[in-house]
Amino acid sequence: MKKKILFVDDEPNVLDGLRRVLRGVRPEWEMEFCPSAQHALEILEGKPFDVMVTDMRMPGMDGCELLEKVKALHPQVVRIILSGHSDRDLILSSLGLAHQFLSKPCDGEALKAIVSRACAMRELLEDQSLVEIVSSIDSLPSLPTLYKEVIEEANSEDGSLERIGEIISKDAGMSAKLLQLVNSAFFGLAAKVTSTVRAVNLIGLETIKALVLSVKIFSEFDRPGMPSVSTLWDHSLLTGMIARSIATQEDLAQNQIDEAFTAGLLHDVGKLILLDKLPGKYREIIALSGETECTLWEAEQTALSTTHAHVGAYLMGIWGLSGSMVEAIAYHHFPGKCLNTVFSTLTAVHLADCAEHDSRGESNRDRLDIGYLEKLGISERIQESLTVPRDSSGKALGDGRKNTFCR
Ligand SMILES: [Fe+2]
Ligand SMILES: [Fe+2]
Repeated sequence: MKKKILFVDDEPNVLDGLRRVLRGVRPEWEMEFCPSAQHALEILEGKPFDVMVTDMRMPGMDGCELLEKVKALHPQVVRIILSGHSDRDLILSSLGLAHQFLSKPCDGEALKAIVSRACAMRELLEDQSLVEIVSSIDSLPSLPTLYKEVIEEANSEDGSLERIGEIISKDAGMSAKLLQLVNSAFFGLAAKVTSTVRAVNLIGLETIKALVLSVKIFSEFDRPGMPSVSTLWDHSLLTGMIARSIATQEDLAQNQIDEAFTAGLLHDVGKLILLDKLPGKYREIIALSGETECTLWEAEQTALSTTHAHVGAYLMGIWGLSGSMVEAIAYHHFPGKCLNTVFSTLTAVHLADCAEHDSRGESNRDRLDIGYLEKLGISERIQESLTVPRDSSGKALGDGRKNTFCR
């Protein structure tokens, strides 16, 4: 089925330019080009769209107001800003409204790639109500202790960028939000940033403080009655550390080592989304998994027709995180389902996830995707040597606690 894309801009020249560069994708995309926000809302009332790409400064209703309305009325639409005004205030005011930000003039190929990826993410989730819930998310909740630490550090007169980076890089929610921002075209970077510490450094201390204290881009996890959620944060952080150690052992380049850590930290971000957005239902899913001895992803599949892996990959994909990171999140249980057959971020995250379970006394052998490891030619080596990294005293990096959320 053709994907439906809506372009909104008050300048006829811009719309003509878009029509011209996108002529080649007409067989796959059904496109509408409209000159005002008001008109865009009328079009959206008439039929469903997958993606909307809008200008920000328009007479009458501006881009911010349009995005706000589309978010409320048509939450399933992926919202992308294409604006020539790259001022800081504009970025900050639209942070919770748009999934991605592009700056004019935008290269046609880059625009095609970004919109195509947003459309491809759609295939990950079938349930329309789940698409609406996940597309409406503008921030992911953080572990309360880390949230308080980052607020204190930002409020402190001698708060340091390094310390803020350290705190944020332990938390999947804060890391994902900063990577979304720094990978927006307004930062004009040629390659995707995959390291939270680098993202923090690029954004700078003053903007980070404004984001934390005034814009309030982070939020605190606040779902009373959820059983020991801190184990989810421990599992995520440890998986990131183990993935980094595996990538280092494999002699991958430094940017891949950084990416392995971040992808490990984010691999179960879908659980965080489900815990936060469907708390009652997710409690039942966890209980079902406990009672029936099926894995958590099997229980999710039964109850939601999808798994946390796809839910997390969908949001990170529409937020514009790197393709290899989204791939690692989507396929971390079954890397063999991915067409990529070289040692990658996905491989490191899959192995790290298994090793982290091992550290909790849960067998990892039936979790390992042996067929995939054989295809990569590393099956024997990995099975012999897959161990959990240990600290200097020989203690495993995990703390041995059973992980309710990671079965
Ligand atoms: Fe998982
Ligand atoms: Fe996991």
